[in-house]
Amino acid sequence: MKRHAALVPLSRQHHDALALGVFIQRGLRDGAGPRAAERLRRQALDVWNLELSGHFEVEETVLFPAARQAVPEPETVDRLLREHDGIREAFSALEHAGPGKLESSLQVLRERLVDHIRFEERVVFEALQESMAEQALAALGLEIDAALPRLCVRLGSAAAAPRAGS
Ligand SMILES: [Fe+2]
Ligand SMILES: [Fe+2]
Repeated sequence: MKRHAALVPLSRQHHDALALGVFIQRGLRDGAGPRAAERLRRQALDVWNLELSGHFEVEETVLFPAARQAVPEPETVDRLLREHDGIREAFSALEHAGPGKLESSLQVLRERLVDHIRFEERVVFEALQESMAEQALAALGLEIDAALPRLCVRLGSAAAAPRAGS
C-alpha cells in the first residue's frame, strides 16, 4: 500500500536506517578490518544521534498511542516498545564496544534495527492506514510534523522529496 502522507516523514527516516543496515552488512561482508569497523561505528552513532533517537521519541509519544487504539492487536505496541529498548541497548553497546566486540555489536544492531523497521512498515503502518479515518490520520500527521523537527537534527535523507500521497 502506498504510504499515507501523514506517515511519510517517519518512513523517510526508516529509509535512512535501512540504508545504514545495508552499509553495515556490506562493510562486514567485505571483511571490515578495524578502521572500516570504526567508520561504521561512527556512521551508526551519527544516524542514532541526529535522527533515530528523536524518531523513537516521536513514535513513543505520538504514533504508538494512536496505534494502540487503531491496530487490531494492541499488544503490538508493547512489542514495538520492547524492540525500541533492545535497539537503544544495541546502540549503547556499540558505542562502548572494545575492538574485539565491535563487529558483533554492529551485527546485532543491524539485525534488531532492520527487523524492527520492516515490522513497522509492513505491519504497523499498513494497519494504521487501513484502520484510521482520514481525518484522524491527517491530525496524526500534523502532530508528527510538529514533533519531528523539535527532536531530530536530521529529518530523513529524502526530506526535500515531494510527499508521497499528497
Ligand atoms: Fe520504531
Ligand atoms: Fe520507526
